[in-house]
Amino acid sequence: MTPPLSISGTTAIAGVLGHPVHHSLSPVMQNAALRQMGLNWVFLALPAPAEQLATVVQGLEAMGCRGLNVTIPHKHSVAALTRELSPLAERLGAVNVLVPMAGGGWFGTNTDVEGFIAPLRGTTAPGQRAVVLGCGGSARAVVAGLVELGFSSIALAGRRPEALAAFQQDCQAWVPQLQPLPWTHDGTGLAEAIAACDLLVNTTPVGMASASNPDAAAACPLDAGELDALQATTVVYDIIYTPRPTRLLAQASQRGCRSIDGTEMLVQQGAAALRLWSGQTDVPVDAMRKALLLHLDGQ
Ligand SMILES: NC(=O)c1ccc[n+]([C@@H]2O[C@H](COP(=O)([O-])OP(=O)(O)OC[C@H]3O[C@@H](n4cnc5c(N)ncnc54)[C@H](OP(=O)(O)O)[C@@H]3O)[C@@H](O)[C@H]2O)c1
Repeated sequence: MTPPLSISGTTAIAGVLGHPVHHSLSPVMQNAALRQMGLNWVFLALPAPAEQLATVVQGLEAMGCRGLNVTIPHKHSVAALTRELSPLAERLGAVNVLVPMAGGGWFGTNTDVEGFIAPLRGTTAPGQRAVVLGCGGSARAVVAGLVELGFSSIALAGRRPEALAAFQQDCQAWVPQLQPLPWTHDGTGLAEAIAACDLLVNTTPVGMASASNPDAAAACPLDAGELDALQATTVVYDIIYTPRPTRLLAQASQRGCRSIDGTEMLVQQGAAALRLWSGQTDVPVDAMRKALLLHLDGQ
């Protein structure tokens, strides 16, 4: 039985920094875990406008904050406010976790890669081919995960040539197998790559819905020709977690593909962050997943 949340004069804070951040699901997951672990902390969504980020980060350190998640739009800019960065965060240019350091300052790292990989572990083999839709922030963590899993070919579809070129320039030293794919929906290129891939990952927000925008659930990032190129042996992974399933995953399942949604990535990046903040290797991942799914099902 999970003890109830009890806030007292000795309760410490942890939280997620973003702007806006009221939609974040991290408080639901992290507070469920903190209660289960018996830690006298509370995890809050902390809005930080870009021009106030440095003040907020310094103030939280001064208040003895136990740890922070970082989300849009600060994953890149917060790196400059750290005392030390993990090699992974440095390579990706993206920080989603801050850990207070002994002696002061923040250690910045990235657990999105670990979160992305978690539901794929044991189901992929080195030498496989992937197609990634979108070349924004989360695509960097996804590509790093695919490299770690040993994918030999990673086709990256992007609608803006300059964004694709910038991505390739940032990553070319550590992702020689990256093939930029201009995404023009003209019946060439992407459909061919999809037909030949073992794993398709959507990192665009297309198909993501919310209570204020339920109609967005009808959208699919692939057009009819691209969907028809999907083979039943291809695993389709949509990192979106609302709705479940997304239109893309529903279409993939109809074609016999195994599908993976974004909930486990979200749970596992949060669990990895909590291990770093608490220093405990055994964190209640089941309680985090249960709280998240309960919350999503109630929306
Ligand atoms: N499960 C998880 O733990 C997790 C973690 C992180 C993110 N996510 C989800 O992943 C999604 C993307 O997040 P992000 O941080 O990567 O966003 P982002 O940095 O804005 O990147 C989004 C990418 O999608 C592209 N895109 C947007 N609309 C498109 C369209 N209609 N057609 C083709 N490409 C389009 C963007 O292209 P342009 O640059 O041309 O706009 C950009 O390359 C969000 O839905 C987010 O909730 C999930």
